[in-house]
Amino acid sequence: MPDGSLNGRAALVTGAGVGIGRAIAESLSEAGACVAVHCHQSVSEAKTVVEGIRDQGGKAIMLQADLADAEQAPTIVQQTVAEFGRLDILINNAGSPIERSRLEDCPLSLWNQSLMTNLTSALLVTQTAIPHLRSSGQGAIVNNITLSVQTGGANGAGPYAIAKGGLLVMTRTLARELAPEVRTNSIMPGVIETRHHEVYSTPQRMQEYRDETPLGRNGTAEEVAGTVLFLVSDAGRFINGALLDINGGRFLR
Ligand SMILES: NC(=O)c1ccc[n+]([C@@H]2O[C@H](COP(=O)([O-])OP(=O)(O)OC[C@H]3O[C@@H](n4cnc5c(N)ncnc54)[C@H](OP(=O)(O)O)[C@@H]3O)[C@@H](O)[C@H]2O)c1
Repeated sequence: MPDGSLNGRAALVTGAGVGIGRAIAESLSEAGACVAVHCHQSVSEAKTVVEGIRDQGGKAIMLQADLADAEQAPTIVQQTVAEFGRLDILINNAGSPIERSRLEDCPLSLWNQSLMTNLTSALLVTQTAIPHLRSSGQGAIVNNITLSVQTGGANGAGPYAIAKGGLLVMTRTLARELAPEVRTNSIMPGVIETRHHEVYSTPQRMQEYRDETPLGRNGTAEEVAGTVLFLVSDAGRFINGALLDINGGRFLR
């Protein structure tokens, strides 16, 4: 349901062909923002997201880049600004555990790839975006962290959790460095039912997650998107440097 609260603003969502990123892109569009839908491998899915937004009367473009490639990462900001003439909202959502490895056995190649995919990519995209976010007057960044930043990376998720931990500290640092022109916040989803868990969790583990959660279920991508919309909109205008839990009470800190 379009509410117009983000009318006139332009957003870039990384990893928006599928899962949480897709739901965020659709939610920002419903609120009136023009949206750049970035993808890497999910090209046909991202095209479907863009078509869906356009069918609803929204403005969207698709951008494809491997954000683990330092040459490609900044280009998605340049293309967004070339298309929309501005950038107000940056959602650093793309990320992946890539593969599981205990730290004691972690090959340097996986360590470096995890840092590049989950942390350095967000830095490179953000650095390119900063001048545009500053001149927006309503600039907002949201970084997608993970609950394993609090718990430690279980079952070989250490390289991923450590990179996301760096993204949390990057959030807090940018919240100091970019204010007052730009607000920077992060979200910390618990277990959200997306492809991520189809790849990295068994059905039995997913049921255990539900049983461990006071709300009795795992979360949806749309529920994460609702939190992001709140953070970037005027309703969240005094929130800067925050880490918002979205986990049904599974982890209480
Ligand atoms: N699901 C959860 O329970 C959960 C919990 C906490 C945090 N998260 C975080 O939420 C974010 C989205 O995950 P999801 O649950 O929606 O799972 P997902 O479906 O696996 O999405 C991962 C996204 O990251 C993108 N991506 C991965 N590597 C990339 C690369 N090298 N370059 C560019 N894009 C890349 C993927 O793009 P393509 O598909 O186009 O390649 C995809 O859009 C991730 O950062 C994840 O760590 C998820």
